[in-house]
Amino acid sequence: MIILGINGGTRQHNSGASVLIDGKLVSSVEEERISRIKNDNGYPHRAIAEALSIAGITVEDVDMVAMPNLSVWNQKPMRDNILKHDIRLAKVEPIIKKCYWKHRIEWYTRLLRPRLKPPGILAQKPAQIIEHHLSHAASAYYASPFGNERVGVITLDGAGDYSWGSVWVGENGKLQQILYLPYLYSIGLLYASVTNYLGFIAGRHEGKVLGLAAFGNPEPLLSRLLAHTNMKDWECLFDARLARVPLRPFSKIGTTVINELCEGLSREDVAAGLQAYTEKVISAWVQEQVVKLKVSKLAVAGGVFSNVKLNQRILALPGVEDVYVHQNMGDGGLATGAAFEVHARLNNGLRPELAPVYLGTGINRENALLALQKLGAAFDEPQNLAQVVGRLLADGKVVARAAGRMEYGPRALGNRTVMAPCHDPGINQWLNKKFARTEFMPFAPVILQEHAREYFPDWKEDHIAARFMTITYDASDIAKKNIPAAVHIDGTARPQVIRREDNPEYYDILREYHAITGVASVINTSFNMHEEPIVRTAEEAITAFQAAGLDALVLGPFLARAKAE
Ligand SMILES: [Fe+2]
Repeated sequence: MIILGINGGTRQHNSGASVLIDGKLVSSVEEERISRIKNDNGYPHRAIAEALSIAGITVEDVDMVAMPNLSVWNQKPMRDNILKHDIRLAKVEPIIKKCYWKHRIEWYTRLLRPRLKPPGILAQKPAQIIEHHLSHAASAYYASPFGNERVGVITLDGAGDYSWGSVWVGENGKLQQILYLPYLYSIGLLYASVTNYLGFIAGRHEGKVLGLAAFGNPEPLLSRLLAHTNMKDWECLFDARLARVPLRPFSKIGTTVINELCEGLSREDVAAGLQAYTEKVISAWVQEQVVKLKVSKLAVAGGVFSNVKLNQRILALPGVEDVYVHQNMGDGGLATGAAFEVHARLNNGLRPELAPVYLGTGINRENALLALQKLGAAFDEPQNLAQVVGRLLADGKVVARAAGRMEYGPRALGNRTVMAPCHDPGINQWLNKKFARTEFMPFAPVILQEHAREYFPDWKEDHIAARFMTITYDASDIAKKNIPAAVHIDGTARPQVIRREDNPEYYDILREYHAITGVASVINTSFNMHEEPIVRTAEEAITAFQAAGLDALVLGPFLARAKAE
C-alpha cells in the first residue's frame, strides 16, 4: 500500500510531502528545499513530485492521500472550547472580549475559504485528513525505535487545530488519546512572541534565544512569568493576563504584556528567564505524565521539542529511560505523521520502527560530475577520500560535504554538512562570518560513538535523540579541552553521535581525523548560506562552497578545492 502524505495549502509552515510504502517511510522532502524559500508554506507541488520520484513511483501508483490539519468545519469542537475559555478570561481581561468576536468572524470567513485540494490525478485518489497534533503524535510514535513497548507520546508546539499540545499512549501499534491542550496557554507561542520581542523572527530564530539564554540571569523574568502561571492546572495554565499573549502574540494585546514582563531587563536576562521557565514548567508536567501513564519511554514531536536544552531536562527526569525526538519535529514532519496514522488505521495498527533520516534528494557520481563540469570547479577523485579529508581537517581546513541523500528534518547529519576542527573557539566567529550567520550558541559537534561517553558522560548507547542532534549533554573536561569550540558557555554541547552503520563515508572521515589528531570530534553545521534552506542539489552545493570561500568540498565521490589565492 502506497500512501502519500501532503502537508500544505492550509497556511501551516513547512509544506512538504512524504511517501510511505507498506508502512515504511521511503522519501520525504520539504518544499523549501526546492523553492529555496525558507519555511515555505505554499502548496508543495514540487516536493510531491520529488518525493514520488525518489520513491521510484508515479502519482498513478498512490493508493491513498493523507493530509494533516482538519478542515475548518471539523475544527468546530476545538474552536468552541476556545470560545468558552475566551468568555471566562474576558471577565478578568475585558480586552479578550474583542478577541471572542474576532474568533467568531474568522471562523465564518475561513468557512468560505476551503482548503486547497490536491491537483490533477491526486484529486481522484481516496484521501483522509488527520488532526494536527495526532499527525505530530503519529510521526513521533510510528517512527520511534520502541517496537512493542508501551510509549508515552507527547506533542507540544505553537498551535495547530486550536491546540498547542496533546498526550497519547502508544501501544500495540496504535495511539490512544489522553488529552489535548487549548492553545490559549501555549508556551510555544509565548516563546515565539518573546523571540519577536528580542528582535528575531518568531518561528525561525527560537534557537538563537536558546543560545542567548546561557549568558543571562534567569531569575527576574522566571519569577514574573511564574506569578501568572498555575502549574497545577494545565487546562488553564496561564492567568487571563498571560493568556493574552497566545491569543494574539504579535498584536498589541499580546505585545503589551510581553513589554511589561520584560521591562528593565537585558536581552540576555529575558532569554534566560524564558528558557528557564520553559524548562521548569514543561519538564514538571512531563514528569507527571510519565507517572500517570506508567511509561519510561517517550516519543515526542512538535516545534517545542526543537528546544535541545528542554530535551536534556526531560531525558534526565526520574523514571525516563529514553526519549525519541522525531527527526523532523516541527510541522515539516506532519506529512509523515498523517501518512503513518492513515496506514495504521487501514491496517489495524503499525509496529513502530526507527525511521531513516536520509530521505531526500540524492547526490550521486553522475549528477555530481555534471555539476562540477558545468560550474567549472577544479576537482579530483581521490582513491581514499576519507583519508584525504581527515588530513585536510587535521590541517585546520573547513570542508563541506554534499553526498548521498539529503537529510529529513532541520538538522544536517553528514550529507549536507560543513565540517571544521573545533580545538580553536575562534572557528565559530570564522564560520559565522563565512555563512553570514549570527549564532549565540557554538556550532555543534559530531563525535564517533566509541568516544561519546568520554566527551559526554551522561550519554548512553541507546540514547536515540543524540543520533539526530536533538538533545544537549553536559561536556566532560576532556571535551572542554579537546573541542572547546563546540562547548557552550553553560558547559553543554549538542552532539551528533555517529555509528559507522548510519553513514559509513562520513564516519570514515571522522575516524581518519581521529587517527591523526587523537580527537574523535569535529564541528558539523548545516550547509547553507545565511537564512537560506540547506543545499539540496550538487549545483547548489558548489555555488554555496564558492560563495562561502570554504577550503574544500566533498561532492559525491569527488573533492573540489578552493582556488589558490
Ligand atoms: Fe505543529
